[in-house]
Amino acid sequence: MTNATMTIALPKGRLFDKTRDLLARCGYELELGERQLVARERNGRFRAILVKNADLPTYVHHGIAGLGICGSDVIYESGHEFFELMTLPFGATRICLAGPKDVGTDRLTEGGPVPIASKYARFTRDYFHSRGIPVSVIHLNGSVELAPVLGLTPYIVDLVETGGTLKAHDLEVKEELGQTEVKLIANAAWYKYHFKEIESLIAELTAAL
Ligand code: PRP
Repeated sequence: MTNATMTIALPKGRLFDKTRDLLARCGYELELGERQLVARERNGRFRAILVKNADLPTYVHHGIAGLGICGSDVIYESGHEFFELMTLPFGATRICLAGPKDVGTDRLTEGGPVPIASKYARFTRDYFHSRGIPVSVIHLNGSVELAPVLGLTPYIVDLVETGGTLKAHDLEVKEELGQTEVKLIANAAWYKYHFKEIESLIAELTAAL
């Protein structure tokens, strides 16, 4: 990849180290000072911006970044359409309905709106409404496991990776609702104008997997 103006949005948090390692295996080293959110690739081949997961689709949608690395859960929540160029071999996880061990799933079939807390409000509504189950979703930005512990809602919809956070709060998976994967996405206009550079990056990433 040679275009110095290429900007890639990378997710802060647990996906960042794996993303950085993958780029490093392609020979791309990010120069990133402490607390810095904009990094230059050592040879100036692109710049990376570090953004919160939930904000990443916004930057790619508006063309501030041409490319982004992002979970399919977050892409769905954004409601935006992107070119999904490849699936990365890390960060795949399950999205689940969970709740306290002593709360059954009877309420899902009783007819009244089921209170559910989630970071994934759009997904939760669409999932249950498409199955004819009315839900009342309370949107939270994190630490969703607290909702049933503190009595905000009996259920949550959240990502479950190791299951450690659920276990630590005496919660359990009631139902697996779907799988999420980490994708390389592109802004459609960027993809058209920078087709060659992007395809060459994809080839490098694929070779490094
Ligand atoms: C995610 C997710 C769960 C937890 C699951 O939260 O929302 O809370 O990880 O992982 P586990 O099954 O391995 O315990 P994250 O750590 O991203 O923080 P957040 O709750 O503040 O969003």
